[in-house]
Amino acid sequence: MNRTFIIYAILISLFITTLGFFFYFYQQVQIFDKKLEETNSSETRSSKHHFVLIGEEMGHDYWRLVGEGAKKAESRYDVVVQYEGPKRSNPDEQLKLFDMAIKSKVDGIIIQALNDEFTPMINKAVKKGIPVITIDTDAPESMRSTYIGTDNYKAGQMAGQALIEDTDGKAIIGIVTGGMDKDNHQHQLRLEGFKDTIAQVEGIKIVAMAESNLSRVKAEEKAYEMLTEHDDITAFYGTSSLDGMGIVAAANNLNKNDLYVMTFDTLTENIRLLKKGKIDAIVGQQPFEMGEKSIEIMLDLLTGNSVQDVYQTNVTIIRTSDLPLKGSERMGLLD
Ligand code: BGC
Repeated sequence: MNRTFIIYAILISLFITTLGFFFYFYQQVQIFDKKLEETNSSETRSSKHHFVLIGEEMGHDYWRLVGEGAKKAESRYDVVVQYEGPKRSNPDEQLKLFDMAIKSKVDGIIIQALNDEFTPMINKAVKKGIPVITIDTDAPESMRSTYIGTDNYKAGQMAGQALIEDTDGKAIIGIVTGGMDKDNHQHQLRLEGFKDTIAQVEGIKIVAMAESNLSRVKAEEKAYEMLTEHDDITAFYGTSSLDGMGIVAAANNLNKNDLYVMTFDTLTENIRLLKKGKIDAIVGQQPFEMGEKSIEIMLDLLTGNSVQDVYQTNVTIIRTSDLPLKGSERMGLLD
């Protein structure tokens, strides 16, 4: 086999692979467009505006609430909302869906801007004339029109303050965080706010921290490891929805019945554990309102109404004494 033959073989296979990628991507955009058309014709034929909302995880209870809020707004206005997201948390897949929405020339995109890689994509959409709203997690440096959601730094501070009050300023803490990556805007802010607050109290220290990657099973695994390596841990702070459930499962396995557990989000299972006294406090966000408001504000943008730079949704600390939940905190709960 001579060298020329080998070079030709490499070039031809490169060409075939590139062609393969091209067709794959083309096909994905076609599928996306088809879904868009189907949503359009099955839901409302006269709809003027077509929005795509891209969440973090389709099957997740928190994102189900965001979607339900958006669908409620959809039923009130002349719009079609296509709700998309990866099955499991996967920022690369979110970015692909984002790119497809841009290529499909939708009228507005609502996206959770999980990390720095979302900024260029947001800017690309805006430069092509598609307004972008960030939801749940912001990208303030991008060209997005507005952010709707929790002030994640403040939520971390509130969690820290509640923990100080509930433990009388004495706690040895393990942290389970959705993502430790410094690029992960949301969890970084929730951690920073928390750490800055507890740093003011001498009797509180953090001895261990691990990443759950938003998985309940991984949260359990990490909490179990922490509790076996540091048997002096008295409290846990979980920065995403499923962390508290994992921490409680690990504590049950090790018969640690007096741990203080704080987690995020009023999901049905978290409320059940709060009622049972297994979770002590929940940082409650407003996912339903985020979804609903995102559609209303997108319509404002398209009709030329002025919008704020940020719409902060409410954050509350919920303890057993605050049950049963009332009003907007109950929105979309399953029980
Ligand atoms: C966050 C969401 C995240 C969810 C996952 C929530 O606290 O706000 O961004 O997808 O937790 O568990």
